[in-house]
Amino acid sequence: METIYEKTDKNEIDKELIAAVGSLIKSGGIVAFPTETVYGLGANALDEKAAVKIYEAKGRPSDNPLIIHISKLEDLAAIVSEVPEKAMSLAKKYWPGPLTMIFPKSDLVPYETTGGLETVAVRMPKHPVGAALIEAGGGYIAAPSANASGKPSPTTAAHVAEDMDGRIDMVIDGGAVGIGIESTIIDMSVPVPAILRPGYITREMIEACIGAVQMAPEISGETREGPKAPGMKYKHYAPKAPLVIVEGDIEKAVAKINELAEQRFLQGKKIGIIATDETMHKYKGGCIKSIGVREQGETIAHNLYSVLRAFDREQVDYIYAEAFYQTEMGQAIMNRLQKAAGNQIIHV
Ligand code: TXA
Ligand code: MG
Repeated sequence: METIYEKTDKNEIDKELIAAVGSLIKSGGIVAFPTETVYGLGANALDEKAAVKIYEAKGRPSDNPLIIHISKLEDLAAIVSEVPEKAMSLAKKYWPGPLTMIFPKSDLVPYETTGGLETVAVRMPKHPVGAALIEAGGGYIAAPSANASGKPSPTTAAHVAEDMDGRIDMVIDGGAVGIGIESTIIDMSVPVPAILRPGYITREMIEACIGAVQMAPEISGETREGPKAPGMKYKHYAPKAPLVIVEGDIEKAVAKINELAEQRFLQGKKIGIIATDETMHKYKGGCIKSIGVREQGETIAHNLYSVLRAFDREQVDYIYAEAFYQTEMGQAIMNRLQKAAGNQIIHV
């Protein structure tokens, strides 16, 4: 299949283009498009054949459910069988925005879209291009992140092309995304709502709106039970080279990374280091990339996946990363980085 590349300014949307892409989606096509979190790979969520195409293009296991994207609150009722009051409060406060909520599904939603589950994940993106496309495509777009299964999510159209060229109908380039990591996911189908994936909308923000929520055991590290979001059990966000996180006092972490890198240099290996503006100059060698200023979580989140993808292009053999817990977004950032590292973490 030949992938078509189109561009539109997010502040001045090409309405003709969006109408044409809407028709493509209604007729079963599969299109990558920008949202405020990461690029999504969209198809008609109510058409089981279209959902199957998404799994094929990503190489994604078919038991890993998709998020349905809507463009207006009135469209929620048709795809869910119940909207708890707390979910309505969150929707009013944070939709459109980087928050995904899980509800019991209605009969309209095919099991191909939900990976066989009785629940459905729903999100209303804020990005003007994403929102216009959902509306034009019939209102219900299933969209996982537009990366090949297991790889870091794409934050630019160029990242999408790296993974999806020749595998999908179209890529719509609406520029770099704003946030850079995927939406917060909260399960509203259980008595005490449970955060399944941390993101830009933090636990504190959610609790200020609806009261106490729980963290999925996988995130809080409390137990070793099976993951609730089926996607969490698969390899995720991973660069090609093995990644090790070194956490603890920052001076000690820098020294440890220098020591580990030195050992690899002696073996003739190429090393990537994920540093910050503050620590960059303290490393002795290797391919050193700053992910941003240590105290600016939003910048770190924004740069995380493009730094991981840059190491793939530079073909490094090993990657060492500092830890980035200290900001409000620290939990969301470290959740992704730990998965990218396959939980290889050294404490210093
Ligand atoms: O920011 C985002 O959420 C992006 C953009 C494109 O909207 N989308 C995204 O989709 O990250 P994806 O498919 O890469 O991640 C969705 C996660 C998966 O881990 C999946 O297992 C979980 O949501 N999920 C989807 N439906 C679920 C359900 N009914 N119950 C539990 N987890 C669910
Ligand atoms: Mg994903």
